[in-house]
Order: sequence, then structure tokens, then C-alpha cells
Amino acid sequence: MSRYNFCMTSAQKLTEIFALLWKDYSILNPQAQAIHKLLEGRGETVINDHVAFRTYNDPRIGLEVLAKAFKKYGYVEKDTYHFEEKKLLAKYYQHEDPKLPKVFISELLTEKFSSDVQKVVQDLIQQIDIKTIESDFFSVSGRPWKVDYIVYDQLSAISEYAAWMAAFGFRANHFTVNFNQLKSFNNLTELNEFLKANGFKLNSSGGEIKGTPAECLEQSSTLAAQVDCEFSDGTHKIPSCYYEFARRYATKTGELYPGFIAASADKIFESTDRKAR
Ligand code: NI
Repeated sequence: MSRYNFCMTSAQKLTEIFALLWKDYSILNPQAQAIHKLLEGRGETVINDHVAFRTYNDPRIGLEVLAKAFKKYGYVEKDTYHFEEKKLLAKYYQHEDPKLPKVFISELLTEKFSSDVQKVVQDLIQQIDIKTIESDFFSVSGRPWKVDYIVYDQLSAISEYAAWMAAFGFRANHFTVNFNQLKSFNNLTELNEFLKANGFKLNSSGGEIKGTPAECLEQSSTLAAQVDCEFSDGTHKIPSCYYEFARRYATKTGELYPGFIAASADKIFESTDRKAR
């Protein structure tokens, strides 16, 4: 074995992480693979705008811990967002290589929930093996704990985000198609109509398109696919991951707006809600 196997470049490492993330995500969310193929069938090349992750804000597994491997391989923190109603904090990270997607990580502010919710989260975190957390592949390690459906069900009544995290753990919550790199659609509405005509359901919370050209960012997303999820007390169908589409507009400086819009992201989070179906 060559010793060079032990010194992968940052680019190789990131390529490997994103390939594993896409593989895991597209198994959990076959509609992403199907949409990918549909777009390629039109001659499009799909480029990712961003990949999004979720976590709880415990210092052992919080946003900063998830960001660690990305930062180690060249990602830089760019901006912070607060979601008061959903009790979340989020940051996004960017790499100097424009071909690499932005990384958007949010965390649930668990101290803003009841002691019962905090105890559930602590019980989950205590099951994690420290080696998983320290690995460069922590962001694609999946669900590192056992959880009962009843716990998921109770959590989902309080916070859909908390419940999704309990059920799915560490993996991409969504990938996002960079609309600006598509050639055969004039606007996001055309893309949305194309997706609906092909049988995909879109998240219509706050309208199918979140954001406006004036805000320099428009986003839409599918509703998360329903998948069989294994719980300690049986298998149940629950919403998994969704596919997002983002169109960016130039700001006054002439550069494409690189950030996110909290009010839009707030509605996009609801793509994994059970009540959205
Ligand atoms: Ni997103």
C-alpha cells in the first residue's frame, strides 16, 4: 500500500465527504436522484448551491463540531442566522473553490425547550461513540442512537426539527440545485411547473417560491419523501429529506448574493413537517 494513501489532499477529502453525503441522501430521498436524472435528460448539469445539516446545540455535537471537518479542509465561516420561532441558530460556510457547495449548518437551541425535551436529547447524545464525533465523516455518520417511535412522535408535536434529528441523525438534510447553472429554465416558476408536471410535490408553506429578486435569493423545495424509518419499537413511515432549488441574484456590487434569508429558510425548514402533507 502506498504511503500516499495516508495524505489525501483537502480537495480529495471534501470530494469523498460530499460523495458519501450524496449517496446516503439519495438513498433516503430517491426523488433527488430522479430529479437529477430528469434535469440531466434535458441536457442540464446539476451543480449544488449548498448542502444543509441539522443538529442539537449540545457542545459535544453542536454546529461547531459538525463544521470542524469542513473548516479543517478549507471552509470559512461566513454568516450567522437566528430563527426565533423554531429556536434555531444557523451558520453557513464557504470554500474558496466555487465548484464546492456552501455548507449550511443549523442547531436546535435545546435550552429553550422543556426539561423533558432536554432529557430526551441528552439520552440520545449519551449513546454516541466519541470516535464517531471525532471522525472527518461525522457529518455523514447517520443516526448514532436508538430511539422509540413514541419519543419521535412526542418530539414532533413540539418541534418537527427535534423529531427529524432524533429519527435521522447526522447526514445531509437537503442538497440544493444551483438554479443559476441551469440553462433551460427562464425562472424558478418554470422549474417548479416542470417538477410538478413530473409528479413531484412542492413545499407550499409561504408560497412555492420563498424570497424575491429584491432580496437577491429565491428558493423552492420538494416536500420530503416519506420513508420507512426503523425505531426501537417498530418501523414507521415518516418524512425524510427534501430537494431544494436556489436562484441567486446580483447585489449592487454586481456579485451574486452569497448568503441566506432567514424568513425564507424558516419556511423551507417546514419541508420535513408531517403536517405539510
Ligand atoms: Ni437550504
